[in-house]
Amino acid sequence: MKDRLIKIKEQASAALQNITSKQELESFRIEFLGKKGCLTEALRSMGGLSAEERPAIGKLVNDVRSFIEAEIETLSDRLDKEELLKKLEQEKIDITMPGKKRPLGKRHPLTTVLDELTDIFIGMGFTIAEGPEIELDYYNFEALNIPKGHPARDTQDTFYINDSVLLRTQTSPVQIRVMENNKPPIKIIAPGRVYRSDAVDATHSPLFHQIEGLVVDKGITMGDLKGTLDAFCKKLYGESIKTRFRPHHFPFTEPSCELDISCPACNGSGCRVCKDEGWIEILGAGMVHPKVLEICGIDSSVYSGFAFGIGLERTVMRRFGIDDLRLFYENDLRFLRQF
Ligand code: DAH
Repeated sequence: MKDRLIKIKEQASAALQNITSKQELESFRIEFLGKKGCLTEALRSMGGLSAEERPAIGKLVNDVRSFIEAEIETLSDRLDKEELLKKLEQEKIDITMPGKKRPLGKRHPLTTVLDELTDIFIGMGFTIAEGPEIELDYYNFEALNIPKGHPARDTQDTFYINDSVLLRTQTSPVQIRVMENNKPPIKIIAPGRVYRSDAVDATHSPLFHQIEGLVVDKGITMGDLKGTLDAFCKKLYGESIKTRFRPHHFPFTEPSCELDISCPACNGSGCRVCKDEGWIEILGAGMVHPKVLEICGIDSSVYSGFAFGIGLERTVMRRFGIDDLRLFYENDLRFLRQF
């Protein structure tokens, strides 16, 4: 019996040398100390020993058990440490490695200039209004005094969803929506996308942007229109810019005008930018037609107003000397990075 126990101890010592994982250690524990393990079995056969033999053998069994248990604990600690070190080694972060680059985007030139325009008008007390791009014929044409068959419809051909629904050709329908839903005083701008059934070339695109403006109150005159738009041009192009209001025709304003500024490139003496005219047209405007006020339920004998419409693309092209409108929509980073 004594020999057997010494052998068990030796076997255990030998087996421990080969253990390299916690899993193996657990199998080892079961093999030696488990319910069916060899030490337990040895213990069971102690029944056959004589009373004199028993204390010495009992002590030996306990010694062997303590020995194995201590060994298991030591090894278990060592394996834990090794495992942790291995994990740390594997998860080591090399802080000298270059990081992942997140390319920083830039604002689109259309957005940059639109923000600038918007800021100028907000500074003058305007608020921002919006309207749908898919619009009713009624708002886009009819209520703006452009009935079916009106020649202005020919110059603003668009994409029709059905007889009465279309992609808006101008931001002017927002005027109607605002006047229908608000009582004067009204002072809004309405920037947004507009559409026309035009073939793409350097100066045309089926999609472009406008900024609409509308002011309605008691006693609004052409003087307010001129003063407001003159101040706007000076803020956008510089104090030395001169403005010129030319008579024009729009169905929804009366009287109507176009606004020219002295060419910022040549100061009015004539150059390539202004096609030697010294002036550049920048927007359409006018006093809101009394008919339009009445359609929106605003008493034209009490209230009057002015409106204007600015083409964003053309404004940006002038600003940065861009000569092809298609560049705005092609998403070519070599172009976009320049602004
Ligand atoms: N909607 C016009 C266009 O697209 C531009 C315009 C002209 C807007 C005069 C106005 C205005 O509000 O008063 O050609």
